Amino acid sequence: MMDWTDRHCRVFHRLMTRRGRLYTEMLTTGAIIHGDRGRLLGFDSSEHPVALQLGGSEARDLATAAKIGEDFGYDEINLNVGCPSDRVKDGRFGACLMAEPELVATGIAAMKRAVNIPVTVKCRIGIDDQDPELALDELARRVVAAGADALIVHARKAWLNGLSPKENRDIPPLDYDRVYRLKAALPDVPIIINGGIGSLAEAGQHLGHVDGVMLGRAAYQEPWRLLAADPELFGEAAPHATMKDVFAAMIPYIERELAHGTRLHSITRHFVGAFHGVPGARAFRRHLAENGVKPGAGVNVLGEATALVEDGAMASLAA
Ligand SMILES: Cc1cc2nc3c(=O)[nH]c(=O)nc-3n(C[C@H](O)[C@H](O)[C@H](O)COP(=O)(O)O)c2cc1C
Repeated sequence: MMDWTDRHCRVFHRLMTRRGRLYTEMLTTGAIIHGDRGRLLGFDSSEHPVALQLGGSEARDLATAAKIGEDFGYDEINLNVGCPSDRVKDGRFGACLMAEPELVATGIAAMKRAVNIPVTVKCRIGIDDQDPELALDELARRVVAAGADALIVHARKAWLNGLSPKENRDIPPLDYDRVYRLKAALPDVPIIINGGIGSLAEAGQHLGHVDGVMLGRAAYQEPWRLLAADPELFGEAAPHATMKDVFAAMIPYIERELAHGTRLHSITRHFVGAFHGVPGARAFRRHLAENGVKPGAGVNVLGEATALVEDGAMASLAA
């Protein structure tokens, strides 16, 4: 999620679920081809399986960027056909591509020729005055024919004329049934549902209809929920029993990053929602906010903040 997630966040999330698949924020083909690749694409080996999400529409650039991603070690390339931001609209990528399924399919075919890892699409159910019954089927069928390995569908339209990107994540109504019908129409294609899913219990209900669930804001803002993902959805033990254990496991990574010049706050900013509704959660947040930003802040700040939270509280809450 642009401006929210990064590789530090993904390392954190990976310590809570082995089975969840992690996605980068959208990176434009232009940035990948012309920018500082090490900074944009570098990731920690613990993050696997991790997908690189691309923004773009020009087939040759998509193929080049996908290949660069594969060479960096990503496990999947995902094309963004759902982002409604103005910047993106002007650049002819993101949700506006819902109106150009043929162009998207050409890009998918080019990426499939360029890489050996799965190529997937993340889209909306439609844009503006499109009829989602037609628009989603049309896009899905074309990209599948071009070789797309799976579709992630944010189950609402993007209204490109008039709503801000933020409003476009909340205001167009959710239509989960539309995504279920897509799955029924394409039974052999993995369909992952996204949008407004706030808990693992809700995720479990969707799994009765589709193959996977993507959590965006809930995963970022309430990361403690991820501790229950492997037990509840996969019947496997979580990598760590409590959030305190997650932070203990995070320390070697943080020390390595600090030694390379990363500022503590760049990592700990992702921990704001780690403890929810448990004694000490507020003190934890305040300690990190006040001390994590200080120049030269060390990993001890995280230890001090965690010590303010009651022991064992998260094990029960996560379940
Ligand atoms: C701050 C922010 C940044 C986002 N950036 C991206 C992005 O880079 N790529 C993408 O596919 N979706 C992006 N999204 C959309 C989410 O992936 C997701 O589709 C949307 O928030 C609905 O799912 P949710 O209700 O689970 O959050 C972003 C959402 C937010 C809140």
